[in-house]
Parts: sequence; structure tokens; C-alpha cells
Amino acid sequence: MKILVVGSGTMGHGIAEVAAISGFDVKLVDISWEILNRAKEKMLESLKKLYEKGTIKDSPESIMSKIEMAVTYDVAKDIDIAIEAVPEIIDLKRKVFSELDRVAPQHAILATNTSSIPISDIAEITSRKEKVIGMHFFNPPPIMKLVEIIPSKYTSSDTINEIIELSKKMNKIPVRLKVEVPGFVSNRIYFRLLQEACREVEAKEATIEGIDSAARYKLRLPMGIFELADYVGLDVSLDLWNVIVSRGATDVKCSLFSEKVKLKELGVKSGKGFYNYPAGKYSKPELPKESDVKGSRLISLAVNEASWLIENKIVNANEIDTVMKYGFNFPQGLLEIADNLGLDSILYELEDIYSKGYSAYMPNALLKNMVNNGYIGRKSGKGFYEYS
Ligand code: CAA
Repeated sequence: MKILVVGSGTMGHGIAEVAAISGFDVKLVDISWEILNRAKEKMLESLKKLYEKGTIKDSPESIMSKIEMAVTYDVAKDIDIAIEAVPEIIDLKRKVFSELDRVAPQHAILATNTSSIPISDIAEITSRKEKVIGMHFFNPPPIMKLVEIIPSKYTSSDTINEIIELSKKMNKIPVRLKVEVPGFVSNRIYFRLLQEACREVEAKEATIEGIDSAARYKLRLPMGIFELADYVGLDVSLDLWNVIVSRGATDVKCSLFSEKVKLKELGVKSGKGFYNYPAGKYSKPELPKESDVKGSRLISLAVNEASWLIENKIVNANEIDTVMKYGFNFPQGLLEIADNLGLDSILYELEDIYSKGYSAYMPNALLKNMVNNGYIGRKSGKGFYEYS
């Protein structure tokens, strides 16, 4: 099977690397050789790490030999699947898809790694709407196991099944949304974590380091919330936030992120965000081990969002937790954490913040019902999960 990856930035070159590791013939297209050569160096660097650890058996050089690079779409003429990973600009995506539609054979599936643009809007530019689908990877793609699969209103079940199978062959764990929602599952939860972190700091309830310490040492997440935003990119994170709100989610007014973006402090890639990253390379910020921030408060809005996703039958509790465990490396799922902390505590925090005038925190009906019926998590034997 021949896979074309369009765009060789962080996500594109990571996806190409994963496809090559899985034994596929890969083509990687970008607009210049300079960009492609940088991508090649990054893939080699990553492959060397994986080889030294024994995660891959073939040498980095032999895996790299499976990736053909090009600066023209002609290489798409014999592909089976394209995965687009160009910047999150709708006009650019549509241009790429109309080119792919023109050159790729009729049977080829055209997938997009977009994290925020509606799949249907992209599909509509092509003459094969039923073969266009969202295939959302996580950064860094060689490490993160999750692929979110997002069918548009046009996507056929054959296309969905083929992409689920492909994800498994790429050694990934697929989670399929029943229908598309803005931000999908991953970013709807991620942006709610950002909003609450931002709100607590702006309301002077907490400091950035206090939030991140609680995330890392109380909730045992791999990164603090601000640290994760730096890692993802503050511009990307702000875009996600704005896109999800512009498509109907209730906002939490908070300007910490937009101020950083205005200053061009974009996180790891620009060398500075909420923390400093000399040479534009990620390194773990030093954080205090103790913090007053409550874990239940920090995740309350995200749990409310998860509850909304379940109520609307987009995914179930287990799928949400799969997203958080394999897309964000949470040691436990968000809802497992919520059940452990107690859904009554989560509801208490939501009601408290809601009473301060933040309408986004209005408790979701499903969550409220669970608590009212005594299903408050592990301590009652039932919450999002059942416990014996
Ligand atoms: N290729 C190969 N190996 C890599 C790698 C890469 N690209 N990146 C990291 N690694 C390896 C490191 O070499 C290291 O290996 P050892 O343990 O053998 O030394 C290991 O991964 C851990 O890396 P670090 O020691 O540098 O740092 P860490 O322990 O903090 O782990 C991390 C880094 C894996 C990124 C971890 O912090 C983590 O899981 N963070 C959460 C990341 C996350 O949430 N990603 C999703 C973002 S959201 C998104 O992508 C979607 C969207 O739409 C915005």
C-alpha cells in the first residue's frame, strides 16, 4: 500500500515516519527541498532514539529508504491513501485536496490530520466526498498511540473501515467519533482544560506553576496544562479554542493565551511561551512539588465537556478515556480520575464557578443526574464506570 503524506512539519514528518516504520511505501511532499531536508533530519533523529531503545528493529537508514520525498503532487498518481498535514488554513487545505483529487487514482482515500477544520468543508472541494475522512494523530506521532477517526457527513462506511484498519496496521489505537463535532473529542477536552487553567490564573486563584504542579504531581499527568499548551503551540491552542467557540461552545473569557500569541511567544517552537525553551527544544520546566490547586477543580470543566459528549452519543466514557490515555498520555482516563476524585466534588466545583458568573460551567444534565442518583464514582460503586 502506498501512502502519501502532504506537509512535512511536526505532524507530517512524524506521520510519514510512523507509516515507514509500519512497512508502508511512503511519499512525503512539501513546498521546498529545504523544508523536506529539515524533516529528514528530524525523522532520522527520532528513528535513532527508537532504534537505540529497541522499539524498532530495522536500522533508521533502512526505514528512511522507504520514504520518497518530492515537491510536486505528481507522486500522488499511484497512491492508495493520502494523509494531509499542512497548516490549519482552510483555503490551503482545500487547495491541497483539489490537487490530490485531480492527481490521485479514483480508489484513493484522502485523509486529513486537521485538528479543527470541519471535514465536510474539506470534502466538498473534491469529487470523492465519500472517500474524505479525518485521521487525527497526536504529537509526537511516533510516541502517541491514538488516532481519532472523524467521518464527515459524506464519508462512506467502507472509507471509515479502511482507515480504522490502516490505523491498526500503523500500530495505533483508533477511536471513531459517531458524528463530527468541532474540535472532535481530544480538543474539546483539551480546550476545556486550558480554559479552566486560564480562568484560575486570571481570577488570581492560582499561579501558572501552581496549576502545572497540580496537573503533574496531583493528577499525575505527563505535563502541566500550560506546559502542554507550550508543547502544542500557543497559536495552535488559541486557534482550536477560537474555532470550537465560534462553532457554538460557550466561551470562558480569558486573555492569557492571546496576549502570549500577540507577543509571538508561541511556546516550544519559538523558544518561549509560559516557560523558556532554549534553542526551540522541549525540556521539562522545573515545577514546585506542592500546590494549593484542587485537581477536581482543574478538571471540572473538562469532565463537564466529556459528559456532554456522552450525552450526545458522540463517544462513550471508555472512548473518551482511550483518547486521553493514548492521545495525551494520561496515566488514567479523565473519567477514571473523575470517578476516583468523586463526581460530587466535580459537580461542587462546577456549581461554584458557575455561581461566579461563568456560564460555560453550567453543569451538564447527565453529570447532574448521576450525582443526584447517588452515582458519585468509585466510593459509591458507580460513576462513569461500575466498581465491584
Ligand atoms: N521520537 C522518538 N522518541 C521520542 C520522541 C520522538 N519524536 N519524542 C520523545 N521521545 C522519547 C524520548 O527520547 C524519551 O525516551 P526515553 O524515555 O527512552 O529517554 C521519551 O520519549 C520521553 O521523552 P523526554 O524524556 O524528552 O520527555 P518526557 O518524559 O516528558 O516525555 C512526552 C515527552 C512523550 C512528549 C511526554 O511529556 C508526554 O506524553 N506529554 C504529553 C504529550 C501530549 O499530550 N501530546 C498531545 C498533544 S495534543 C495534539 O497533538 C493534538 C492536537 O490537535 C493539538
